[in-house]
Amino acid sequence: MIIHLLRDSAALGELAARHVEVAMLETRDQVLGVATGSTPESTYAALSRRAARGTFRTDRLCVFALDEYIGLPRDHPQCYRKVLERSLSEPLGIEPSRIHVPTDDGGSRSASAAKFEEAIVEAGGVHVQILGIGRNGHIGFNEPGSDFHSTTRVVKLAESTRRANSRFFGSIEDVPPRAMSQGLATIMRSRRLMLMAVGAEKAEPIARALAGAVSPALPASVLQRHARLTVYLDRAAATRLDLDAIRSIATVHDWS
Ligand code: PGA
Repeated sequence: MIIHLLRDSAALGELAARHVEVAMLETRDQVLGVATGSTPESTYAALSRRAARGTFRTDRLCVFALDEYIGLPRDHPQCYRKVLERSLSEPLGIEPSRIHVPTDDGGSRSASAAKFEEAIVEAGGVHVQILGIGRNGHIGFNEPGSDFHSTTRVVKLAESTRRANSRFFGSIEDVPPRAMSQGLATIMRSRRLMLMAVGAEKAEPIARALAGAVSPALPASVLQRHARLTVYLDRAAATRLDLDAIRSIATVHDWS
C-alpha cells in the first residue's frame, strides 16, 4: 500500500490525475473505473486539463462506473450517468457509448448486472479503479455487511448514505432507497486501486479501512488485501491514522 498525504483537494486531484495518466500508459485497453460523489471531482477536473493539454489521451478510453441509483428518470441530474457525462465525458471528450453504468436496461435486474460484469471482462478488465469512501466505510454502494465475494447486484442504501447524499437532492425522501452497485469482488479484480478521501468526516473510516480489522462490517477494509492500492488523503482525512504504525505496512509520501 502507498499513501500520499496532500495539502488539499486540489493538490490531491493533481497528483491522482498524474497517476491515472501514467498508469494508462501501461495498458492497451484503456479501462478506467470511476466513482461519483464530491471527492473525485478535483481529479476529473485535473484529468480534463491534462486532456486539453494533450498529455492524457482519451481516444480509446472506456469508463465503468461503480454504481447507479434505481428508479431515477434517465434525465434526472443526479442520475450517475448524467453526473459522469457532466464531469467526465463532456470535458474529456469521451463518447457516451464508452461510459458504462450498472443499470437496469429493461430486462431483469440480475441479467443487467451479469451483462455489466461481462462488459468489464470484454473490455479487458478495469486497469485503474478510482474509489471514494462513505462515512460508514462503504465503497461503491457496498454498505456494511456486504459480502467480500459480491459482484454487481441490486443493493439497499443505508439510511446514513441516503442522509449524506440528500445534499444532492431536495430531501432524504428524494434519494432512491436502492441502487445497482459493483460488488466488492468486482472492485478487487481491478488491477490498480486508487482510494481517495477528503475532510474530517472521512478520518475515522479511513483509519479503520487501512489499519483496522478486515471485516464486512467496514467494507473498505477489504482493500488491505489488494496488492496495488494507492491512497490519497488530504490532511483532515489523515488525522486518525497512526502514521508511525502504518509505515510498517505502507509507504507514506507526505506532500502536505
Ligand atoms: P463523497 O462520497 O465523495 O461525496 O464524500 C463518497 C462515497 O459515499 O462513497
